[in-house]
Amino acid sequence: MATKRMANLPETTDRRIDALLTLLAENSTIVISGAKIAKEIGVTRQQVWRWIEKLRALGVRVKGHPRTGYHIERVPDILAPQMLSHRLSGTLFARRIYHFFKIDSTNAVAMRLGEAGEPHGTLVLAEEQTSGRGRAGRSWISEKSAGIYCSVLLRPPIPPAHAPLLTLVAGLAARDAAADDLDRPPDVRWPNDLLAGGRKFCGILTEMHAEPDRVHHAVVGIGMNVNQAKMPEELAEIATSLRIETGNVHSRLELLIRLLRHLDRYYNQFLADGALPILRRFAEVSSYFQGKRVRITTAKESFTGTTAGLEPSGVLRVARDDGRGVELVLSGDVAEAS
Ligand code: BTN
Repeated sequence: MATKRMANLPETTDRRIDALLTLLAENSTIVISGAKIAKEIGVTRQQVWRWIEKLRALGVRVKGHPRTGYHIERVPDILAPQMLSHRLSGTLFARRIYHFFKIDSTNAVAMRLGEAGEPHGTLVLAEEQTSGRGRAGRSWISEKSAGIYCSVLLRPPIPPAHAPLLTLVAGLAARDAAADDLDRPPDVRWPNDLLAGGRKFCGILTEMHAEPDRVHHAVVGIGMNVNQAKMPEELAEIATSLRIETGNVHSRLELLIRLLRHLDRYYNQFLADGALPILRRFAEVSSYFQGKRVRITTAKESFTGTTAGLEPSGVLRVARDDGRGVELVLSGDVAEAS
């Protein structure tokens, strides 16, 4: 594919592995012979065997062997393009889906695809990231097949000053998607951290390539901790997963489909009606919108204050404790203060 060469991308997941998964999932009640699978997807039986082993290593429970045939024990929770695309039809994200079993960062890939001219709505997914990027130069720990690691490439007709609104849009979409999996809906900490029980389980990183008056392309990267059984010790006090909160394993596939459908809806609403409905929705769902005692840490200072709503551009207003008036916070860390 021309784009792939231009962007010098690592190999995406072979479409035929995707086809194998779909075939097994769609025939989950029967044993299907290695020869039949090989014929349907156009590879040798040995290749089928090798791919089955690869799927097993990812936790897909496939019973059987080349002579008798294979049988999938449970429909696997892999974010495979074939499984996703028809469920996303009618949205921006059904057309171009890149899937990787292992990649450095889906944001890094999506930025390269943006430079190479891939279309608006291109979706990049990974089962595992080796250098997941977080905000402020931090990293995002991306355990294999436990979370959602997803980036969308957008070409929004907006000036760069409005790009923070994209981050709010994505935060709202992730919030609505996760709300169905939790007993109590998550809180949104400006600009877009999702919190359950006071701990973060989802973060969003927006990167962009812009000219002074327009965004050339933006990449919105969403990382959600879904089925991690525990968080690394150093993060356990501040981070969590849906599984830790509920005690249940959640379907990443269903969650991702909901997330992308909500994102499509909020994004279209933003383009059609502007920032106001997005800001109103943020006010409804975030305890950080107004009257929250916070500590703000930016590259240049750290101060405490009380939140006082958002500017039309999505920037946070904070009334400072030190009497220096209302500060407009463009970026930085927000923590609840006592
Ligand atoms: C944050 O620090 O809160 C933002 C974390 C964003 C992580 C996601 S995971 C998918 C995408 N690819 C990346 O490298 N980062 C984002």
